[in-house]
Amino acid sequence: MTHILAIETSCDETAAAVVVDGRRVLSNRVASQIEMHRRFGGVFPEVASRQHVLAIQTVIREALDEAGVARVADLDAIAVTHGPGLAGSLLVGVNAAKGLAFASGLPLIPVNHLEGHVYSNWADMPNNPGATDEFPVLVLIVSGGHTELVLMSGHGEYRLLGRTLDDAAGEAFDKVARLLELGYPGGPAIQKAAEGVALDRFSLPRPLLHNNDHRFNFSYSGLKTAVLNLTRQLEREGIDPKAPETAAAIGAEFQAAAVEVLVEKTADAAQEYGARQVCICGGVSANRALRVSAQERFAGLGIPLHIPAFALCTDNAAMIGAAAYFRQQPSGLSAYHNLGVDVHASLPLT
Ligand code: KG4
Ligand code: ZN
Repeated sequence: MTHILAIETSCDETAAAVVVDGRRVLSNRVASQIEMHRRFGGVFPEVASRQHVLAIQTVIREALDEAGVARVADLDAIAVTHGPGLAGSLLVGVNAAKGLAFASGLPLIPVNHLEGHVYSNWADMPNNPGATDEFPVLVLIVSGGHTELVLMSGHGEYRLLGRTLDDAAGEAFDKVARLLELGYPGGPAIQKAAEGVALDRFSLPRPLLHNNDHRFNFSYSGLKTAVLNLTRQLEREGIDPKAPETAAAIGAEFQAAAVEVLVEKTADAAQEYGARQVCICGGVSANRALRVSAQERFAGLGIPLHIPAFALCTDNAAMIGAAAYFRQQPSGLSAYHNLGVDVHASLPLT
């Protein structure tokens, strides 16, 4: 059995986890900085890295304790996110991981944050068993920084089918929520405001849906601009777009538009490439409307769908531990005794 301690500090969550054989999550601790960033309405990089410094030791200690690991040397490897993300934030996790690897002599596995999101779907959680090893697997990564459709032909084998041409879906949720003053972070705020709201008052575009030149690409900046134009139009008509009922109705239509494009393009790609499983991951995969809509769509197509348990949707370290296990498998852990790991703010998956 391979016990991996994983560390994740790419953005605004300080996280540590212990994962066995890439699937069994023994602990998954996350110290969120949401309250720190709320007053800025977004993640403030300087504040984020300082908060990671303050939290990291405790979070790692808690993850080890919860997993019943007495000494770091009892583990088999250390894994850490080395990109993409905020350089100053990544550095805190990478330096902590290097220190532990150096002191214990354990291998150090650098993990791409996006690969972590992908492998959040392989972790077994209560009532949410992980994905199987049947390929091809079609993956939709949908987070605050990325919106990508990726085809996996095997573990660690990725082909980028399409991506956002501008903003990520989560970024659009955050910007639209700010515009409508619905709260921070935007995704959960829009979801909450939109609950039970009828979709008959406003109509927003479904960008790039049924566009053959961009069949598997996305565009969310246009949708955000459409919301902005709608609010200006309402203001001209003497209607306050930020009044709670109006903001909720706009938010609900925005969510419906965002979700429809995500689900339809994923379904199209899954059929085109004969996917045997579909995985949706990243912070936006916590969205209830997306989960319900995707479940219905893929049940109709008869393709098994995986969406992680909520705790594994937004940034966490269990997904990094899962990814690290599958990443080291071909060569084995002995290939990872190199402490020269650096951070990469923009590290692509493929
Ligand atoms: O994966 P993640 O935690 O960090 C990145 O790697 O970017 O994703 C954060 C993003 C944010 O944009 C947040 O608004 C969005 O995920 N998000 C949601 C929900 N929960 C988080 N978007 C829609 N609905 C949600 N329930
Ligand atoms: Zn993420």
